[in-house]
Amino acid sequence: MAKTAVIILAAGRGTRLKSELPKVLHQAGGKPLLAHVLAAVAGAGLAPQDTVVVTGFGTQQVGELVHPLGVRTVLQEPQKGTGHAVQVARDLIAGYDRALILCGDMPLVSSATVSGLLHTLQEGVAAVLATAEPDIPRAYGRILRRGEQVIGIVEDKQASPEHKKIKELNAGFYLFHTADLWWALDRVGTDNPHGEYYLTDTVALLASAGKRVLAFRLPDEQEILGINDRVELAQVDLLFRRRKLRELMETGVTAIAPETILVDCDVTVGADTILEPGVQLLGTTRIGRNCRVRSYSVISDSVIGDGVLLKPFTVLEAVEVREGAELGPFTRVREHAVIGAEARLGNFVEVKKSKLGKGVKASHLTYLGDAEVGDQTNIGAGTITCNYDGVRKHTTRIGDGVFVGSNSTLVAPVTVENGAYVAAGSVITETVPADALALGRSRQTNKEHWARRRREKHRAEAKKS
Ligand code: UD1
Ligand code: CA
Repeated sequence: MAKTAVIILAAGRGTRLKSELPKVLHQAGGKPLLAHVLAAVAGAGLAPQDTVVVTGFGTQQVGELVHPLGVRTVLQEPQKGTGHAVQVARDLIAGYDRALILCGDMPLVSSATVSGLLHTLQEGVAAVLATAEPDIPRAYGRILRRGEQVIGIVEDKQASPEHKKIKELNAGFYLFHTADLWWALDRVGTDNPHGEYYLTDTVALLASAGKRVLAFRLPDEQEILGINDRVELAQVDLLFRRRKLRELMETGVTAIAPETILVDCDVTVGADTILEPGVQLLGTTRIGRNCRVRSYSVISDSVIGDGVLLKPFTVLEAVEVREGAELGPFTRVREHAVIGAEARLGNFVEVKKSKLGKGVKASHLTYLGDAEVGDQTNIGAGTITCNYDGVRKHTTRIGDGVFVGSNSTLVAPVTVENGAYVAAGSVITETVPADALALGRSRQTNKEHWARRRREKHRAEAKKS
């Protein structure tokens, strides 16, 4: 089996983005441009350990993204062109028979294209490069052919009016036999307007040495879209999201006014779930079947079971909501909270790092932080777990079938055992035993006729003056 290395060119600063962040870390479809390219590589069966990213500007940040995946980086400093960038990776891929070269700022490249290049590079072919004939002309390299063979690439800046008429463009995705690649790169010069080493010059060198270079037509012309500025970033972002929503609709998801819905590329949604206008599903979110996500809910990195109803303006971040639960409007759940099946959380309820059992109800104006709440427990309006003493966080434990009366304050660490009642307005600082009633408030005193006497006194004073 031929060993294939992958080189991803990503040293360019991306000046036109006017950013502190390296270009390839800008996001489209909810993930970095470079992550899309890596996904295409992985989808074609090539391994991260065989992949090298050529970095320049922002090399540390790029490393932070790719090193955990097992992808290596190599610094190109200074940057002397695409040919030079490939040379910089040379030592790291010694021993590989073939080198696939992609661009970190071209995130629409597909696994199908990578596979297509791999299939087209037979013995006796030195290199294969992807090409397309998009409707809108672009300042890309023009492909020079003799029959099926590619004999050169003319860069836009050097193209004559005759060359500019050529519709077939160089996408920037290549697969070389490494022996041919190094032979040609060693002969590439810098005789061009930028004084750079152009990877594209290898094609004419190989062709004139009698080597075969072939073109692979992109299965989807849009793959040729690269990102140079924020306008192109927005266009590609939209493209990913449209594609994602189409895929969801094809698998049985209803999207109402889909142009207003924002779904990141790695989100999954089960069949018969309905997404209303203005919904955002972000990160690694997974939504079950038969759910309804109502308008303006923002769900990130969360797992939602089947048959869940999220009413308008529900905000979920890194949490799990189990089947049949109903949340919102205006519920916020965060930091690995787990909401049990059939639970009901209503308006202005915030839950943080808590585990709520089956059928728990907290319908209004409540904060549950660092809490464990048992099955079928009712949390009255305005209940607050005081989880923070100014230094540390503490846990509130509430058992099964508990009734916490409205406006109670549970000062953690504290426990309310199974079946207990907490009277409304209580401040609870000690364990409430199972099945007990806890009254943590001062007793009411009524002063008979007090209000009437006060009124009469005021009236008399008003007459005098
Ligand atoms: C390049 C091709 C052009 C092709 C186009 C497709 C060359 C000379 N031309 O042009 O034929 O149509 O891509 O997008 O290759 N990079 C480095 N180090 C460098 C220079 C560039 O890593 O020294 C990286 C950039 O970050 C970028 C990629 O290589 O990801 C392409 O470089 P860029 O300068 O954008 O090339 P183009 O002018 O677009
Ligand atoms: Ca209160």
